[in-house]
Amino acid sequence: MSPGAAGALELAGVSYDAAGRTLLNDVTVCFRPGEVTALSGPSGSGKTTLLSVAGGLLEPTRGLTAYAGRPMWRGNGDPRPEVAFVLQVYGLVPILSARENVSIALRARGVAPGEADERAEAELARFHIADLGDRQVEELSGGQMQRVACARACVAGAEVLLADEPTSELDQVSRGLVMEQLRAEADRGAVVVVATHDLELVEACDRQHVIDEGRLAR
Ligand SMILES: Nc1ncnc2c1ncn2[C@@H]1O[C@H](COP(=O)(O)OP(=O)(O)OP(=O)(O)O)[C@@H](O)[C@H]1O
Ligand SMILES: [Mg+2]
Repeated sequence: MSPGAAGALELAGVSYDAAGRTLLNDVTVCFRPGEVTALSGPSGSGKTTLLSVAGGLLEPTRGLTAYAGRPMWRGNGDPRPEVAFVLQVYGLVPILSARENVSIALRARGVAPGEADERAEAELARFHIADLGDRQVEELSGGQMQRVACARACVAGAEVLLADEPTSELDQVSRGLVMEQLRAEADRGAVVVVATHDLELVEACDRQHVIDEGRLAR
């Protein structure tokens, strides 16, 4: 891959095949630091697949993915520590509290438990759910879980933030809040990519890409 923009997340000629189908077809795109990029397209078009390949969870069948010139695929599906995800299915641990779910993202990166809990608390406040810190995730509403998932993705100050439908369960106010926080992550220099059907969210992004049947349409 030719050296691209410093600190950019790049896909070059990426295809991904599964179960005899081509889910991503020759995708070349550059996600820049300091920008929020929207990825939209119909259900089943390949948004989640693209984020999974871009974040190093899946190995491209053809082509290359790299962040700041370093390959995203590390041979085993473990993402690079620079990457944080908001997963479409949240990926929270149901029997842990909201605070613990956020805190573990920091502990996994070597932060001491006490400090991790404090930072988790502050991050929940950022998403207006500070009062839910002690609540078990399985006792939260869909929209509340979604905000815990956003807090967990943002807490570590990752360089690359990949958010899959982060506002699908949210009301107008919470959607605005999540967009503001994604913007704040980009403002501190992160690469932020948001897969979404939410047209208002798309409009609020710096750059928009559309995917259709696994191909980047624009
Ligand atoms: N592991 C897999 N094996 C086979 N097919 C898959 C696999 N994962 C996803 N697909 C298929 O790949 C296509 C793209 O799926 P993907 O989840 O990327 O779509 P999406 O754009 O995120 O859709 P949505 O808006 O509904 O979340 C779909 O047709 C889906 O059924
Ligand atoms: Mg999806």
